Amino acid sequence: MEGVFVSDFIGPVRARSNLPERAYVLDTTLRDGEQTPGVCFTLEEKIAIARKLDELGVDVIEAGFPVNSDEERSTVRTIKREGLKAKICGLARCVTKDIDACITSEVDRVHIFIATSDIHLKYKLRMDEDKALEQALAATDYVKAHGLECEFSCEDATRTPVERLLRFYTSVEERGADVHNVPDTVGVMEPEATFELISRLKSALKKPISMHCHNDFGLAVANTLAGVKAGASQVHVTINGLGERGGNASLEQTVTALHAMYRVETGIRLNLLKEASKLVERASMIHLPPNFPIVGENAFAHEAGIHVHGVLAKAESYEPLTPEMVGQKRRIVMGKHTGKHGVANFVKEKYNLTDDQIAAVVEKVRALAIHKKKIIEDDVNAIVNEVLGSVPDAERLVRLEEILVVTGNKITPTASVQLTHNNQKRVAAGIGTGPVDALAKAIQSALGEEIRLLNYKLEAISGGTDSLCTVEVVTEDKDGRTAMGLAVGGDIVMASVSAIMESLNRIYSKRMKCQQSQ
Ligand code: KIV
Ligand code: ZN
Repeated sequence: MEGVFVSDFIGPVRARSNLPERAYVLDTTLRDGEQTPGVCFTLEEKIAIARKLDELGVDVIEAGFPVNSDEERSTVRTIKREGLKAKICGLARCVTKDIDACITSEVDRVHIFIATSDIHLKYKLRMDEDKALEQALAATDYVKAHGLECEFSCEDATRTPVERLLRFYTSVEERGADVHNVPDTVGVMEPEATFELISRLKSALKKPISMHCHNDFGLAVANTLAGVKAGASQVHVTINGLGERGGNASLEQTVTALHAMYRVETGIRLNLLKEASKLVERASMIHLPPNFPIVGENAFAHEAGIHVHGVLAKAESYEPLTPEMVGQKRRIVMGKHTGKHGVANFVKEKYNLTDDQIAAVVEKVRALAIHKKKIIEDDVNAIVNEVLGSVPDAERLVRLEEILVVTGNKITPTASVQLTHNNQKRVAAGIGTGPVDALAKAIQSALGEEIRLLNYKLEAISGGTDSLCTVEVVTEDKDGRTAMGLAVGGDIVMASVSAIMESLNRIYSKRMKCQQSQ
């Protein structure tokens, strides 16, 4: 399959599974996803999300729980009136007023649910099984009598005895229910158990089976896929895996796995996944961890030298899919593990660096990454400029050996330096208005000549107290020679002294070249 580089071991698994040719996608970002603590979408956000889901190609949008409020009812109705290709579904308990709220919201499908596990029947509904079944059947009749599609859920199905599940599902099927949804309400399943349960249901039911898995143990996607392998042909998913507690099965991961691993058609335009994820991330204000599969920032990012080398030689060495397939871009990231190839790749389009310069940039990027975890493009650009402009090591006449700076609220900033000038050791101290000024004075005194600091510019490249800064200085010697020095670092004082040393070395280098030419 083009652009997919998954394991050959999946072939036999596919062959012995009961996979449907097509899996239908019911997205519940606007209902279960909005139940994520702290998430509340505005009407405009809901419309934008619904449109994006439609563009993605989902089959059904569960747009809300209309009985909740007049506002929810009107929002679901507004979404329905958008005229999308996707069917619009509303959630309802097995009670008339909930179903009426769905009807007035003009939905195509009503998703009715009633709890069937002992815990829920006894402590939540305070009802016996027969009474719950009676309500389920009445609700099914009511939905069907209004000419609407009916999807039925046994809430907490996965903690309900299988005989009871069969009783509920076969009974509602006889009354015309169109889809049987199996919620793993508190995410207590694992893939093999899910496969077994869905196989049992599949052999007894005629209507399509749907999976609704929660992620309490991090298995929502795996369980959803196991259900599909057992013959379920609809999946309930949410963008970014939003949902109660640990969330629901993520749409991105589920449909990509269905496509790449099981070759089950979903009708989803995978190349819009990243875009859809970003939209929901912004609207929900729930930020994805960078390592979130498929759509996370790091899903196609490479930092370690060996990986970068491999990916640049042949992308599938370290990528199971092409990033473009899911609307992503490959990123080569700079950091502690960056190797020569990563830096070379990063800078090759902008700069023409020699091998030695690349090695110098790599060394500086790695050193910087030890205290600044995330290296951004500007950091690398600054480092490249520093390396490009620096005096070659062999030509450096002034070298800094040691510095000590003392500053505080009740003492005069004082610095002492030890440096070598023409291989001769020089030691001196100075005081100043601040630590950098004290250092500049100490360096001048050690060199025994007046060097004026014409310009000093300090700039933080990125935010935060661990931010990287660039220091740019211009110095002038007594003969009016000037030179610029640039340094990048996480420590302002050290970056300042490096920039001063850089400019001094340039002045000395100019002076030497001038003497040689005379
Ligand atoms: O998780 C769940 O049980 C649900 C039901 C309403 C289907 O979301
Ligand atoms: Zn749920």
